[in-house]
Amino acid sequence: MSVRRSVIAGTGGYLPERVVTNEELARRVDTSDEWIVARTGIRQRHVAAKDELTSDLALHAAEAALVAAGRRAGEIDGILLATTTPDLTFPASATRVQAELGMTRGFAFDLQAVCSGFIFALAQADALIRSGMSERLLVIGAETFSRILDWEDRTTCVLFGDGAGAVVLEAGEGAGTPADRGVLSARLHSDGRQAELLKTDGGPSSTGTVGKVRMLGREVFRHAVTNLATVMEETLADVGVSTDEIDWVIPHQANRRILDGTARKLGIDPGRVIVTVDRHANTSAASVPLALDVAVRDGRVAPGNLLLLEAMGGGFTWGACLVRM
Ligand code: UT7
Repeated sequence: MSVRRSVIAGTGGYLPERVVTNEELARRVDTSDEWIVARTGIRQRHVAAKDELTSDLALHAAEAALVAAGRRAGEIDGILLATTTPDLTFPASATRVQAELGMTRGFAFDLQAVCSGFIFALAQADALIRSGMSERLLVIGAETFSRILDWEDRTTCVLFGDGAGAVVLEAGEGAGTPADRGVLSARLHSDGRQAELLKTDGGPSSTGTVGKVRMLGREVFRHAVTNLATVMEETLADVGVSTDEIDWVIPHQANRRILDGTARKLGIDPGRVIVTVDRHANTSAASVPLALDVAVRDGRVAPGNLLLLEAMGGGFTWGACLVRM
């Protein structure tokens, strides 16, 4: 039986030039490199320049993904940009990326599911392609979280960074088996009852401001490991594969301890988990596509590999995608 699949044809990533080390933060707030490394695994993060917008980061990542896929912008049917830090309240930052790429057809919109944004966007793009509505899409995660941090709050400002990652997703053919290339399963969840644990304290409709990130970290941590392990198991069950068959886990990079805890819970060898949190920190919706791009470019992720992508963020939102490259 021939089935329509959506296949990752190329990946791209972009990190702003400026690197902020833990030592630099320790000069601003009451923290230390030792505390940050021990509790999170983070050693540094990239921070966007003043005049560098989320759409600029997204554009760089999108251009790199197009080159990797061997495609021109004119061959793209649409752009899905996952972000919580858009350039403006409207129009969607995706439309600026569309214009900058020189695209004069197709559609572009932003999607907001905080740190899970890329997983949600990939699942949407997969559905658009499998339904026959689109042939080839750019799926981007891009953030300038540095703009919504309270730089005096040590419980949050040490955790996040800026960046962007992108993939070109295009229609392909499969046999309807786990050996197919493409997105094999996507599972999404949210639980609005947990909104208070991770949120901004402002927004267009409530305060008329963007607000700053507020998080009860210990509570979020507790939910993260359980929710992520469960949703990862759901995607494996959908496809009928075991954890032994996964070549790489590409997790949302919030905290090294969450990555290790989740891998342990599922019995996955930590050596098969792609880790970038030490260099990128938590780049929210950008973290999964950035980690994927790093691992593709350094040769760890190879064609035919089975990947498990997962993320969890504010809302709460969480999800996972099982993808064969
Ligand atoms: O991406 C979206 C999802 N987000 C996450 O997944 C984040 C999940 N949460 C976490 O990663 C962790 O909870 C944190 C890294 C945020 C915090 O680690 P923790 O081990 O849960 O620490 P804690 O919040 O329980 O705080 C322990 C202590 C506290 O002091 P007391 O009350 O024990 O005296 C904090 O005030 O560490 C203190 N602390 C700090 N100390 C030095 C909190 N932040 C800092 C800091 N430097 N930056």
